[in-house]
Amino acid sequence: MNQQKIIVALDGHSSCGKSTYAKLIAAELGYSYIDTGSMYRAVTLASMEALLFEKTDAPPMEEIEVLLNHIELNLKHNPEKQRTEIWLNGRMVEDVIRTMEVSGHVSYIAAISAVRRKMVEYQRMLGEEKGVVMDGRDIGTVVFPGAELKIFLTASLEVRTERRYKELIEKGMKAEFEEVKSNLAKRDHIDSSRADSPLKQADDAILLDNSEMTLEQQMVWFSEVYQQITSGTDG
Ligand code: DC
Repeated sequence: MNQQKIIVALDGHSSCGKSTYAKLIAAELGYSYIDTGSMYRAVTLASMEALLFEKTDAPPMEEIEVLLNHIELNLKHNPEKQRTEIWLNGRMVEDVIRTMEVSGHVSYIAAISAVRRKMVEYQRMLGEEKGVVMDGRDIGTVVFPGAELKIFLTASLEVRTERRYKELIEKGMKAEFEEVKSNLAKRDHIDSSRADSPLKQADDAILLDNSEMTLEQQMVWFSEVYQQITSGTDG
């Protein structure tokens, strides 16, 4: 069945498995996967490398706006690693943007309107021809309010902490359970309470709490929802 391409917007809280889920959905549909968090992380990395965070946790927005004019982001598919990677000014930074230092500063950068404007513009261009699964915080509310399928993914703070903690330990990083939990709660709070494009469920998004679900169960759920949404849009 050759169905018309749609946009799948996947928003939700930190560490609830959005990117794993989005990648699987993209593979299932033969769509591109776009991780918008990686863009905010890359801008954060650029700010750190320009030493803007050297003396303060809140560098002046004007300095970040100036830096923005010198930032070029690209998403490229790496066939060897079977993944999409983000490039910052000609350098592949997909791995280095995942450090704790970048995670510690990214919410500040993501709250700056000039940064969001530039990222949203790029995201809209990437989704222009549809056939994308885009994950983030504001995809269904701001980037693509007209997306055909919007999912708002969440899980309890306890479950998200356990998943994140396990991930860090598996990567050989030092982590304290309570510290991971308070970091997550803090990021949720900053992301949900910022003035520009706060994290919130779009009115027409479907809520999925995956606290008690396996990935297989989430995919079964997705297939049912996808069938409902696309029946009648066969091309
Ligand atoms: O999904 P992530 O944890 O890699 O996102 C990193 C940060 O970027 C997170 O604090 C929220 C922010 N973000 C955002 O504000 N809007 C998006 N569309 C995606 C991420």
